[in-house]
Amino acid sequence: MTVQSDTQSWQLCLSCGAELAEADVATRCRSCGGLLEVRHKPPELSGQALRDHFDGRTSASGVWRFQELVLPSATQPVSYPEGNTPLLYRAPLAAWAGTSDLALKHEGHNPTGSFKDRGMTVGITQALRIGARAVVCASTGNTSASLAAYGAQAGLPVFVLVPEGKIALGKLAQTVGFGARVLAVRGDFDACLGLVEEAGERLGLYLLNSVNPFRIEGQQTIVFELLQQLRWSPPDWIVLPGGNLGNTAAFGKALEQARELRLITRLPRLAVVQAEGAAPFARSFAEGFRHRYEVAAETVATAIRIGNPASWDRAVRAIRLTDGVVLSVPDAEILAAKAAIDRAGVGCEPASAASLAGLRRLVSDGTVSREQSVVAVLTGHMLKDPEILLESPALGAAAIEQIEPTISALATAVEAASRTIFREA
Ligand code: F0G
Repeated sequence: MTVQSDTQSWQLCLSCGAELAEADVATRCRSCGGLLEVRHKPPELSGQALRDHFDGRTSASGVWRFQELVLPSATQPVSYPEGNTPLLYRAPLAAWAGTSDLALKHEGHNPTGSFKDRGMTVGITQALRIGARAVVCASTGNTSASLAAYGAQAGLPVFVLVPEGKIALGKLAQTVGFGARVLAVRGDFDACLGLVEEAGERLGLYLLNSVNPFRIEGQQTIVFELLQQLRWSPPDWIVLPGGNLGNTAAFGKALEQARELRLITRLPRLAVVQAEGAAPFARSFAEGFRHRYEVAAETVATAIRIGNPASWDRAVRAIRLTDGVVLSVPDAEILAAKAAIDRAGVGCEPASAASLAGLRRLVSDGTVSREQSVVAVLTGHMLKDPEILLESPALGAAAIEQIEPTISALATAVEAASRTIFREA
């Protein structure tokens, strides 16, 4: 079917080239099962005129400010609003990673505390446009919290499948609080995703995992927004954690569009960081992407505890397009990076810290040179995973000391602590 001649947006199968209408509810190609991508007719403006257009638009949402590149035909977005997250410059963290030019794009500042809100505002907007009856996702926690919030705003029933006992407390609490129906599956994330992909449509549930290409459209705006914050002067590198690889796919698509529309003239390189126990994509990259791997995933960074990433093919394209790299880091390095980020007063959840841990490795092995400019994406908020802070002595638990309610007990505690806090000048 050819639909693109008479509509503003359509969906394209990346495997076989089939086209689907924008309003088609399929989240994979109906002919070959390949991943879909949303395509739009290019905006009339490009280059400096388009940059001026975005710079001049005051929008409470850092997603809908870029509507022409996200979902041009939407007239009633379901928006919290979201996005408009800060770029942070912290000298101790640049020093920790070994670079001199580091900015942290903190996506934990989104309404539900992760970057997922950028995709969900678009996904739920699309769900209403196509008349969805209810929505569903599989999740390691952040997608479910975000879907629960945006579903509640839109008045849509939300079902989420999560791996039982394997999602962080803050995320589970949010999901329940926003009113979603939580199904704790006795299996891992990959099993949850398999279930919703297979049965979602049959059960009348619109699937809002990142296989849904409308999610990817919204997540592109992390890149548009950081480029805008850098006055459209791209960094040399963008570093992000990789799990299901939806974000990697979104970053690649955003950069491709940004270059085609001459918002930028040079592409940053992407560096995708996986946890060592959940690193099928890093392993494949090391072999020139000759094989696709699937692993039984295990890592303390539960958000990226994924063994069979769904957006694999799109992510390969993104890495090839940007001459990117993929690496993995052990849990100990993720936790060391998290401790550094937390102690700098920034804070993030464990999976987010993979960015900084990966950057440190890339600098030490010479892939990233000290002078190159880097944006590292922190994907989720520190409060998402309170257990890890309270259970791990290295992250904070050691700071809690019980005392009697007396002045002498307080004085003793302060004195003892002072010996380590106030170091000799
Ligand atoms: N960081 C955080 C905080 C995440 O929640 C996720 C994914 C990622 C990184 C990885 O992003 O999957 O696009 O490569 N969380 C999903 C979820 C899987 O269900 O919340 P990705």
